Amino acid sequence: MKNLVIFASGNGSNFDAIVIACQKCNIDARVLLLICDKKDAYVIKRAQKRGVPSLVILPKDFTSKEDYEKKIIEELAPYDIDLICLAGYMRIIGDTLLSRYEGKIINTHPSILPSFKGIKAIEQAMEYGVKMFGITIHFVDSSLDGGKIIDQRGIYYNGNDISYIKKRLLILEHRLYISSIKKLLTKL
Ligand code: GAR
Repeated sequence: MKNLVIFASGNGSNFDAIVIACQKCNIDARVLLLICDKKDAYVIKRAQKRGVPSLVILPKDFTSKEDYEKKIIEELAPYDIDLICLAGYMRIIGDTLLSRYEGKIINTHPSILPSFKGIKAIEQAMEYGVKMFGITIHFVDSSLDGGKIIDQRGIYYNGNDISYIKKRLLILEHRLYISSIKKLLTKL
């Protein structure tokens, strides 16, 4: 069985989807820990409900990104981690973490990358007038939503109901993230 750690900052629906997939043995792994950078994030409640330990590490308590990431590495040191899954973790990973967990950090983003990086990707796409919305799962590098693409899915939508397309994308995202994790873990 493989070991996952999830980093998240907010709602945590992807966190939940991954944990449930592990608990139902749909993914042959367990989620060892949630790392969260926001003390009031809803994902912390989800972790409690699912029986996953969580650790809140606030960047503002450190004088530099390097020190913040060193603290994360220190906390992760006892674990033998196969994959770190960013799930709505709204922070660029720095060289400190990247070099320690090279090739083991992946992310999900709600656009067909390399289009519409950063926050509010679905709003950006809608504003641009795109008709193909989508999800990308990718390896993480030190750039914003950059790194080699693992998988993508798209949905054709020629409308302007943002909440409708967000809901459809979220369902697609959960499925794609789970299938990507499964595939990656079998290659390890
Ligand atoms: C997800 O849609 C994820 O793709 C996005 O944040 C959302 C978090 O939802 N991430 C990014 O935009 C990263 N740039 P969740 O908290 O319900 O999983």
